[in-house]
Amino acid sequence: MRSLTSRELRQLYLDFFKSKGHAVIPSASLIPENDPTVLFTTAGMHPLVPYLMGERHPEGKRLCDVQKCVRTGDIDEVGDPSHCTFFEMLGNWSLGDYFKKESIAFSFEFLTDEKWLGIPKDKLFFTCFEGDKDAPRDTVSFDRWVELGVDPSHIVYLPKKNNWWGPAGQTGPCGPDTEIFYDTGADPCGPDCKAGCDCHKYLEIWNNVFMEYNKTADGVFEPLKQKNVDTGMGLDRTVATLQGADSVFDTDAFADIIAKISELSHKGYKDSGDTIKAFRIIADHIRCAVFMLGDQRGVTPSNVDQGYILRRLIRRSIRFSMQLGVPEKGLCEIAKVVIDQYAPFYPELEQNREKILSELQREENRFASTLKKGIREFNKLVSTLDGKLIGGTDAFHLYDTYGFPIEFTMELAAENGYLVDVEGFHAAFKAHQALSQAGAEQRFKGGLADNTEATTALHTATHLMHSALRKVLNDDSVAQKGSNITPERLRFDFSFPRKVTPDELRAVEALVNEAIKADVPITCEEMTVDEAKEQGAIGLFESRYGSKVKVYTMGGFSKEICGGPHAERTGELGTFRIVKEEASSAGVRRIKAVLKHD
Ligand code: ALA
Repeated sequence: MRSLTSRELRQLYLDFFKSKGHAVIPSASLIPENDPTVLFTTAGMHPLVPYLMGERHPEGKRLCDVQKCVRTGDIDEVGDPSHCTFFEMLGNWSLGDYFKKESIAFSFEFLTDEKWLGIPKDKLFFTCFEGDKDAPRDTVSFDRWVELGVDPSHIVYLPKKNNWWGPAGQTGPCGPDTEIFYDTGADPCGPDCKAGCDCHKYLEIWNNVFMEYNKTADGVFEPLKQKNVDTGMGLDRTVATLQGADSVFDTDAFADIIAKISELSHKGYKDSGDTIKAFRIIADHIRCAVFMLGDQRGVTPSNVDQGYILRRLIRRSIRFSMQLGVPEKGLCEIAKVVIDQYAPFYPELEQNREKILSELQREENRFASTLKKGIREFNKLVSTLDGKLIGGTDAFHLYDTYGFPIEFTMELAAENGYLVDVEGFHAAFKAHQALSQAGAEQRFKGGLADNTEATTALHTATHLMHSALRKVLNDDSVAQKGSNITPERLRFDFSFPRKVTPDELRAVEALVNEAIKADVPITCEEMTVDEAKEQGAIGLFESRYGSKVKVYTMGGFSKEICGGPHAERTGELGTFRIVKEEASSAGVRRIKAVLKHD
């Protein structure tokens, strides 16, 4: 068996499939483009769904790639020998071209031939789909493995739970699979231990999925227009197998990252069970954070969606870094090693180097100081508890005041033998949101759906757009009639007698984006309504504002009476895009717009 580095395996895999007529396609973004049901790309098939459903791919019917993936469902398992939140999946694809027989032959050749991986075939075990009411037993795959020289005792049939691959969402292309395992040589965990057992004796290294069904919204499995193959081989896991390493963290993929953590903390990776866990968590989470920040459709830390997961990863690595004694700014030092290592294959990391480092540093600055105080607060809290349950309101306080994501509090609690009332936390969270929403609605005409960063940014963009509309339409009668903002989009109603032309809309976008590019600070002053008028502030001058009002100024771009909240600088907003302009009612137009971070 050949011992390969990650870089060598990546290349060898692509070379093999190139030699079999496959086109190499680049990794798609970690952020799915047209699928709101999942936050991240979780498998290689994800970006290829339209082509599995029958659309023509410009590169043809045989493709191969190395796809960046993130799975955070098992984040609590990181620290064990095999779990990572970020991984690279090697994949080869037939889009209505070859099917089971060829796919299995390709896999067998790549794994066992001396020219490629040269794994002895008696170390390999296989599982096939046993069949049920939706699809027949996959005897074709079973027979094919045997035909290629596999001992039938190395192949087992398993049910849908094990040998069926479906999309992350509920509907879409799916089908039976055949999985390939490497026998580590460990003792079986019991008389029923066989391929597919999760005791770690058999390591799954490759999965060949035969996508010939489409699962419809009614739960029916209808045949697809074409029969496809989708395979996935985890790069790190296979490298660990080839290198005979105890874990993915003991391969070349993590060697430099772990060495850097050791240099910074003056601790050894294997000093104790605790250091092993902390090193692995930091290494995994920083690697994942670097890929999220540096992605072509990059994410930044926030309190919603992808940004929340990123924040959780960074905050968790800050905690473990602190535990190990990694000094401040250490995260960036570790991130630099990740960038240097992966940029030759993922050039977006080099292109976004500055952004990755500055966002990491910013999040560390935000969190590191409150973390210590929060942990003190946590210790005080548990020392006064009668029982073993941390109340929802207390957990919410740790979130709201110290920025502890709930999962973070749960983990701290578990380490100290406590439980958290998670439902109570969510109730407190909702009550708080309802309160701040009510507040917002009192303060703003229209209202904000919440006060997350995304909503706040869109609220700031609304001001810029309001003033841009006045400039472009050259009409002082443009006045706000309503505003409704969610984390996804802004909606703004304003008086104007006709349709706004596409050119005018583009001009409004350009003005807003110019203000964003200028990255001016957003300042707030309190003054009387008359003073505000005198300064040329726009907004509603009704008495409901009381004697004094807040005026938000964004350089020369906008001056408006408002209650906030707003971003600190216009540069935080991303790219502004108008997605729709329509009539709302007589003499009132409605615009919907979004902010993109790429
Ligand atoms: N899509 C299959 C998997 O992720 C190959 O396992």
